[in-house]
Amino acid sequence: MTTFPENFLWGTATAAYQVEGAWNEAGRGPSIWDTFSHTPGRVAGGDTGDVACDHYHRLEEDLDILAALGVGAYRFSISWPRVQPCGSGPVNAPGLDFYSRLVDGLLARDIAPVATLYHWDLPQELEDAGGWPHRDTARRFAEYARHMGDALGDRVHTWITLNEPWCSAYLGYASGVHAPARTEPAAALAAVHHLNLGHGLAVQALRTTAAAAAQMSVTLNLHHVRGVSERDADAVRRADALANRAFLGPMLEGAYPRDLIADTASVTDWSFVRDGDEAAACQPLDVLGVNYYNPTLVRQWDGSARRETADGHQDGAASPWIACEEVEFVRQPGPYTEMGWNIDETGLTELLLRLHRDHPGLPLMITENGAAFADVVDADGRVRDERRVDYLRRHLTAVTEAIAAGADVRGYFVWSLMDNFEWAHGYAKRFGIVRVDRDTMERTWKDSAHWYREVVATGKLPS
Ligand code: FCB
Repeated sequence: MTTFPENFLWGTATAAYQVEGAWNEAGRGPSIWDTFSHTPGRVAGGDTGDVACDHYHRLEEDLDILAALGVGAYRFSISWPRVQPCGSGPVNAPGLDFYSRLVDGLLARDIAPVATLYHWDLPQELEDAGGWPHRDTARRFAEYARHMGDALGDRVHTWITLNEPWCSAYLGYASGVHAPARTEPAAALAAVHHLNLGHGLAVQALRTTAAAAAQMSVTLNLHHVRGVSERDADAVRRADALANRAFLGPMLEGAYPRDLIADTASVTDWSFVRDGDEAAACQPLDVLGVNYYNPTLVRQWDGSARRETADGHQDGAASPWIACEEVEFVRQPGPYTEMGWNIDETGLTELLLRLHRDHPGLPLMITENGAAFADVVDADGRVRDERRVDYLRRHLTAVTEAIAAGADVRGYFVWSLMDNFEWAHGYAKRFGIVRVDRDTMERTWKDSAHWYREVVATGKLPS
């Protein structure tokens, strides 16, 4: 089956810091990613998001690209420090106005706005006060959510509270390869909790301010963890607890998994979890956002050979895998994308079916999927990115297989609309279906954009 359901939502995704630029314009405050990228040695090539894709100034042009692609939805993120420069206190009207124009521009083109509140750009002032390991950040986040509900709640189709809290907590506070570059495992677990709590409080705040029809969601980068052999079952369990159930537990079931608490007992006693927190984190959701790029392969380390750490998340000063000293992350067979991530769409089908099984009745949406390749502009100006087309085709086929087996998948968003600032990798990794020339900022449709346009128009994968 290669035909998608009637009302399937087709979209593309971006995030504020990766595309907007205008980092210090119109009252925007600094975020942890400004600090990080301005620190020499943190980002490949010394790249920063200062200009990014200049989307802030090219909004109309980019909206027109979305309209020409024919997508039914666009997933963007709101830069918290653009609308609330200090992370608390008054909102910044010009910042808000940008998102209001973005939302109106989408609606005028018949495109549903899917807004992510937090795609990693914490206001620097909140990090200075302790960041996500600090409980107050969850409260500040809910306040910010309430402001956004007040301002845009009548027009946003779907609200996504957090993007990949796994990355915010573990890459930001444990391995330090992302902002704010801290390597404090206990703090990272406190960050996990305050992200979960902040999510729940934000959903509550949005429910009171946004339109009744607005959908509530969160986007998780769940790891589809496999073991090399059956002997590795405990390694799979441990990685799954830390990566997946640390979020799915509180958010969907109102409790942290007991094995996670036990696994991490030498790092923290979890006393930052107060009575009522888990219940607050667990708010009814309309749809769960799933980001998928590749699966994860683990093995119980035998303590002798050098431990493999090929988890795809860059080697930092420390591991993001807290209390997983005996788990090896094994390099998987190719082919690979430019990120070094293996291409294996079967993990997506299996992940969707697991969610369908474990959380029946909760609709799913692929909020990110895509691939970086070293694209070449041919002499005729065309970008023949057939490997990206192949990647997308494989993964969309995997989605249809999950749907055929019963999973309720409502939509799919390509990462990304355009080449952008790929975090610590800078601009070297190109994920876009639209190319962005780094010198001129010119946008050029790659072959994958033309291909995706046809998929969206027909609701089918071209043979
Ligand atoms: C995800 C992020 C997104 C992008 C892709 C490649 O982890 O959410 O911003 O960088 O990876």
